[in-house]
Amino acid sequence: MSFDVHQVRAAYPALAEGYVHFDGAAGTLVAGSVADAVATTMRSAVGNRTTVFEPGRRSNRIVEAARAAVADLVGGDPAGVAFGPSATALTYTVARALADTWTAGDEIVVSRLDHDANVRPWVQAAGRAGVTVRWAGFDPATGALPAAQYADLIGERTRLVAITAASNAIGTRPDVAAIAARAHAVGALVYVDAVHAAPHVFLDRRALGADFLALSAYKWCGPHVGAVVADPALLEQMWPDKVLPASDRVPERFETGTPPFELLAGLPAAVDHLAGLCPEATGSRRERLRTSMTAVGDYEGELFGWLDDALRAMRHVQVLGRPEDRTPTLSFTVANLMPRQVTAELSRRGICAWDGDYYARELFDALGVNEAGGAVRLGLAHYNTAEEIGYVIDAVAALRLR
Ligand SMILES: Cc1ncc(COP(=O)(O)O)c(C=O)c1O
Repeated sequence: MSFDVHQVRAAYPALAEGYVHFDGAAGTLVAGSVADAVATTMRSAVGNRTTVFEPGRRSNRIVEAARAAVADLVGGDPAGVAFGPSATALTYTVARALADTWTAGDEIVVSRLDHDANVRPWVQAAGRAGVTVRWAGFDPATGALPAAQYADLIGERTRLVAITAASNAIGTRPDVAAIAARAHAVGALVYVDAVHAAPHVFLDRRALGADFLALSAYKWCGPHVGAVVADPALLEQMWPDKVLPASDRVPERFETGTPPFELLAGLPAAVDHLAGLCPEATGSRRERLRTSMTAVGDYEGELFGWLDDALRAMRHVQVLGRPEDRTPTLSFTVANLMPRQVTAELSRRGICAWDGDYYARELFDALGVNEAGGAVRLGLAHYNTAEEIGYVIDAVAALRLR
């Protein structure tokens, strides 16, 4: 299936500003159709949700369309899609609600590969409930997270396993399905952070074995809205804190306050945009997503391979980890330069890249790089070009000469 990056780039008005974006893992640009959907909604009569008058019915339809779009993105049920201000906020909501059902002596398993958004909410909830936290580790040489270790980590008292679908720092994609199968064998729930994976892979909540799947639309060309996707029957069993008059229904029960209707209107536009990235894709939106996201993965993988090989060949550069199954995201350090000096130099050339730990705190602490300012991250998105890869390779190569 074809992937025409120049046609794709034409869909992004922000690219006209001329920056070279290797900051996709921190947040992607927004397709013009998404911006239009948000702006159109803000220019329309949109009332708070009600069935009484049309502008209120319009907001109901916006929410329904947003749930259907996110359900298509991950193979979920629209009735199990809850929205919130961010993935982090929703994970705190779910963690607090689940922790109410835990008792002292129960156990949970988190990983040192994860973004802190899928670590701290669980660790803090466990601390309050007297629950033991067990830690999955990764191989510092490869960055891989061996699924086999979960045989020892999961036991009869395990209530929850939190695991990322992909590391936002070094790209590792753990074998989530295998980990989930072990968790389910003892009746534990599985919370999967798919925030970083979503823009790069075709996601299937059930195939992953994710009881909960967390997403953040600004990582896949949408607005700043978080979502958690679960089986509605599971959400029915949970009671997050909420104000009395707000709906007790699922998934509304999980949505604190009035939703950002204008931003939710951008979600179907973003999912439609992803589904249309491969123009030859046909069938339902879910089927087109499968084709398009596979084409995206192939395209990004090719660019990434070139970048990864070129950086590894530089003697002044150390790339962290080398996971086999990965997203097109890497972190590296440069001899004799702090990561902030590297990103400042890249910025001078118009390249946007992050330094630090990007909230992958446990990972970078374990790798021992946090004391020296962390690392530099290059995170590709589907709108990056081969020309840009060559440009950033040259820019990093030139750091040796400074
Ligand atoms: C892997 C991963 N998980 C969770 C988050 C947090 O998402 P949000 O900003 O929506 O809270 C991020 C954000 O960078 C992330 O990369």
